[in-house]
Amino acid sequence: MLRTIRATQYVTPLREGGSLPAIIEADDLGLYVVKFRGAGQGPLALVAELVAGEIGRALGLDIPELVFAQVDPALGRNEPDQEIRDLLRASAGLNLALDYLPGSSMFDPAAGDKADPRIASLAVWFDAFTLNVDRTARNANLLNWHRQLYFIDHGAALYFHHNWPDADRLAESPFADVRHHILLPWASGLDEAAAHAASRLNAEVLTNILAQVPDEWLQSAHASPTEARAAYLDLLIRRLNASPIFTQEAIRARAHLI
Ligand SMILES: Nc1ncnc2c1ncn2[C@@H]1O[C@H](COP(=O)(O)OP(=O)(O)O)[C@@H](O)[C@H]1O
Ligand SMILES: [Mg+2]
Repeated sequence: MLRTIRATQYVTPLREGGSLPAIIEADDLGLYVVKFRGAGQGPLALVAELVAGEIGRALGLDIPELVFAQVDPALGRNEPDQEIRDLLRASAGLNLALDYLPGSSMFDPAAGDKADPRIASLAVWFDAFTLNVDRTARNANLLNWHRQLYFIDHGAALYFHHNWPDADRLAESPFADVRHHILLPWASGLDEAAAHAASRLNAEVLTNILAQVPDEWLQSAHASPTEARAAYLDLLIRRLNASPIFTQEAIRARAHLI
């Protein structure tokens, strides 16, 4: 179960991405990176962040701890930047936050960073499974911290939830975008990664993850939050069954690379 913290102080915005996440201090005195529900991408980005992030963790990848972050309307009232004040006002209530990793640095092959083949393979499988296009050389979303690789920023994953009528088509997608994956050169064990994933993910694991998504983030494309969770589960199970399709595509894309 995700913990819930309350944001007590807005510390600083992180301006790399478009969604204007921020470092905040919380009532447990910890520092967190908050992804705001009021950002342009809307609450579905938070759903993707939670569901994909916890899937990654279930696979055994290192993901910073995810928590719910309660933002009250008074937070940031005195921020000089209008854009930030507006964002905080639009985000009152429940948001998603990650444990802040102080002193981490972005994974950068150009600077000589290398990845472990087992982790790289699992990561490629994970991003193909969750349809995550945000793991490229330009935008690695991969942090080096204490000699481990931490996976962040899954807000653009599961993009089928922006267009349910078209979601069927994506369940069996080979995910050709995998060719741009920053870890593909190191992903020499994709069949093993797929086998490992099959041993970790199943309907029960996915149901437990989906159960943690707050009702208020699940939107009106479905009659109720219960139906929305059922639609995610159905799609993810079909995606899991399509693992041979996207695993083969990743192997093929890697053969072209090296
Ligand atoms: N848990 C974290 N610890 C340390 N830095 C982080 C963390 N999460 C994000 N960052 C930093 O903030 C930047 C933006 O966060 P990210 O989740 O990638 O949001 P965006 O959607 O804006 O790209 C990242 O590129 C990274 O430099
Ligand atoms: Mg990012």
